[in-house]
Amino acid sequence: MTRIVHISDLHFGKPAVYERLEALRALLSGMRPAAVAVSGDLTQRCANREFEQASSYLRELERTAPCIVVPGNHDIRWLGAVARNLGLAGLFRRKAHEFKYSRYRRHICEELNPFLEVPGAVIAGLNTAHGISRGSLTRRLRDLGVIGHVRRQDVERVRRRFEQAPPGAARIVMIHHNPIKGQLSGRHGLSNTGWALETLAALGTELILCGHDHQEAIHATERTSPGLVISTAGTISNRVRPGRSSSFNLVDIGEESLRIVTYTWNNTAKDFLPSTERLFPRPQRTGRYNLGSMQDDGRDLGHVEQTDPRR
Ligand SMILES: [Fe+2]
Ligand SMILES: [Fe+2]
Repeated sequence: MTRIVHISDLHFGKPAVYERLEALRALLSGMRPAAVAVSGDLTQRCANREFEQASSYLRELERTAPCIVVPGNHDIRWLGAVARNLGLAGLFRRKAHEFKYSRYRRHICEELNPFLEVPGAVIAGLNTAHGISRGSLTRRLRDLGVIGHVRRQDVERVRRRFEQAPPGAARIVMIHHNPIKGQLSGRHGLSNTGWALETLAALGTELILCGHDHQEAIHATERTSPGLVISTAGTISNRVRPGRSSSFNLVDIGEESLRIVTYTWNNTAKDFLPSTERLFPRPQRTGRYNLGSMQDDGRDLGHVEQTDPRR
């Protein structure tokens, strides 16, 4: 069995809640995961100080397990990059692209599309946070610089990685933006969802890890062939959706099944407790995910507490 802890949207800076971060760190060492997957938005304002705090926290988590991280839209200097693209900041030497990811690369990881192999699974990080760029243009003004997209060249990189991966290993792709519309936000994170899901499924991807929506969710989609499971981790920070709590997802990959358990912050226990569990048969045993039967597999474990209305 391969265990991955999937966390997202830590938002170091004002929204970070140290009580929850510390509870997560303590819980993690008892869970003994093979890897910790962090699907972006480490910071709130992309500030050096926030990155330093995020980096130090990740180093603590790495005492338990290797971490793989992708940037979120809050981790890139997209506005400054636009100014550079328009030639408004000719005094600066660095090009817009380098500028956009400079702080993330300095503090967190040089590689924007990292790859991690652990026994039983491979995780390909795929950067979807490009700020305002051709693939992420939208008419919805409030989504400018917020929405993401999957680039063809990054998918090719994942393809090459997966081709070299051990045949039995679960193929997992981690992105920041949610490909499935958020239940409360009503928003898609990606501008090219259909193409991205189809293409990633065709590469043999079993599971997509993402965040960004700040509402936890576990989806299975039949829009692709073979089907895909999508783990959306909620936020550890206080930027939760109304009526929701902070959360993260635990992923257990067995030979025959994939289990995802959502852990939700409980204000009374001052800890994350299991709240929802979904179980899926793995595709190499069945040829594809048996989505018809697993839609009803969701099980409420009865620990959800929705007491934190702050966003
Ligand atoms: Fe976020
Ligand atoms: Fe985000």
